[in-house]
Amino acid sequence: MNLDGTPYALMPMQLADVPTVSAVERSVFSLPWSTSAFTYDLTNNPNAEYLVVRYLPWMAPERAEGRLARSMRRLLKPPQQDPSLIGYGGLWMVLEEGHICTLAVRAAWRGRGLGELLLAGLIERARARGAEVMTLEVRVSNVTAQNLYLKYGFRVVGRRKGYYTDNREDALVMTTDSIVAPGYGALLATLTEQLHARLVKTPEAPASALKAPRAEDVAP
Ligand SMILES: CC(C)(COP(=O)(O)OP(=O)(O)OC[C@H]1O[C@@H](n2cnc3c(N)ncnc32)[C@H](O)[C@@H]1OP(=O)(O)O)[C@@H](O)C(=O)NCCC(=O)NCCS
Repeated sequence: MNLDGTPYALMPMQLADVPTVSAVERSVFSLPWSTSAFTYDLTNNPNAEYLVVRYLPWMAPERAEGRLARSMRRLLKPPQQDPSLIGYGGLWMVLEEGHICTLAVRAAWRGRGLGELLLAGLIERARARGAEVMTLEVRVSNVTAQNLYLKYGFRVVGRRKGYYTDNREDALVMTTDSIVAPGYGALLATLTEQLHARLVKTPEAPASALKAPRAEDVAP
């Protein structure tokens, strides 16, 4: 994924990211994953892969520039809340399927292409790992996420009744056609090119991310 000239970086999630990811998770989802679920996948699940999107101007300089020796970095406590981490997404490889297991962008940062960036990054990783199709579940009421998935070639193929245990809401099952077909590669190339142009255009942080404490900063 070309992010040259943008203030963003797409990176593999690290264990040190888990406290921030968990806080964002609690602020975003009514059925949040536990901290240990992320930790388990990062340490014990070779079929799982997670990405985070970072806003580079807000990264701690020693992390951004990689200037500290590894031994010194171990002495530094990872920040409980890393404001540079503005979204994350996850992929489970299940045989020839790449399953999007989670996707979230901090509320203040939505609507500027970052959900798309994470989804495209996960699809690229799934392709690199040999996936032939992508799958996911999404709440029937989550039209925003459904639109994002439709844009990337997902279509509704089924419905799981009462899938979400908090309100018994149904899940839509969405899948793509072959992601290794030339047509899909061309779609991905076009969409990521357009996305790059969009990300370059808006380099500044949203005003709402600068004021008012973020909900996730005060989450228990
Ligand atoms: C879903 C989510 C990840 C999208 O992230 P985002 O950064 O706001 O989305 P983007 O700016 O990348 O938008 C990409 C596409 O999503 C759709 N979309 C985004 N915001 C939308 C809105 N308010 N209404 C309708 N569609 C919308 C559009 O198709 C958009 O493409 P376009 O800009 O060409 O119209 C984000 O809203 C989020 O974190 N929601 C809460 C968690 C969640 O629902 N996760 C998905 C679980 S299945």
